[in-house]
Amino acid sequence: MAQFHFVEDYERHVNELVSQHPLDEAMSLAVGGGYELIGDIASQIVVYAGAKSGMDVFDFGCGSGRVAHALAKKVDLKSFLGTDIVQPLLDYAKTKTPDHYRFVKHQALSVPAPDESFDITYAFSVFTHLLQAECYIYLQDIARVLKPRGTFVFSFLELSEGAHWGIFQNTVDTQRALQAPHLNMFIERSQIKIWAKHAGFKVTEIIDGPSKRWNGHALGQTVAILKKH
Ligand SMILES: C[S@@+](CC[C@H](N)C(=O)[O-])C[C@H]1O[C@@H](n2cnc3c(N)ncnc32)[C@H](O)[C@@H]1O
Repeated sequence: MAQFHFVEDYERHVNELVSQHPLDEAMSLAVGGGYELIGDIASQIVVYAGAKSGMDVFDFGCGSGRVAHALAKKVDLKSFLGTDIVQPLLDYAKTKTPDHYRFVKHQALSVPAPDESFDITYAFSVFTHLLQAECYIYLQDIARVLKPRGTFVFSFLELSEGAHWGIFQNTVDTQRALQAPHLNMFIERSQIKIWAKHAGFKVTEIIDGPSKRWNGHALGQTVAILKKH
């Protein structure tokens, strides 16, 4: 048994997908699908949040590099670190990104980087799969590795959002059938504000996932932009 639910869940999920699909398809499905489209939307959001050429960027829960791959087409980063818990995802991400992008497997409740290393950190569709206390522990460590006034962008699912209620109902159905591939968590805006305050951030913007369009397309998940004090 793995030490954390997320390691066990995701390793099994990725192994199953790789055994059932061609590699590109498996690597897209493993991160929720839409490798090019969702990667493009998420990377637009990272740029909107302030990512610029010359910056140091950290992608928490980078998966198969869906966002990193798209971001590299938009900005020329000074440094990039992507972490995840599943090695085959990281290996694939490496093949889809510039040579100087680093990908590190890290299966602990911390960020493997020195204090004040990054201008921007982002995490798409990651806090959606972690327990609340785990999210908060990562949030605290992300505050540590961000430079002063650094930015943290992350997506989440909220029960108060009508479109997300459908995802919750599906989650309930798969849970009832004991078929859930991994944990699906829903957190609320009010909670994010409290976490942010205690972890040394200010919430600068919450972007509606289902309604806000990026070149005509919606991300689906709600996005929070936090600024470190
Ligand atoms: C839905 S995928 C999203 C991947 C990527 N952020 C993207 O948007 O393409 C969730 C990812 O989070 C990773 N993950 C889950 N728990 C994690 C943890 N505790 N630390 C780092 N990565 C984690 C999973 O392995 C998976 O690659």
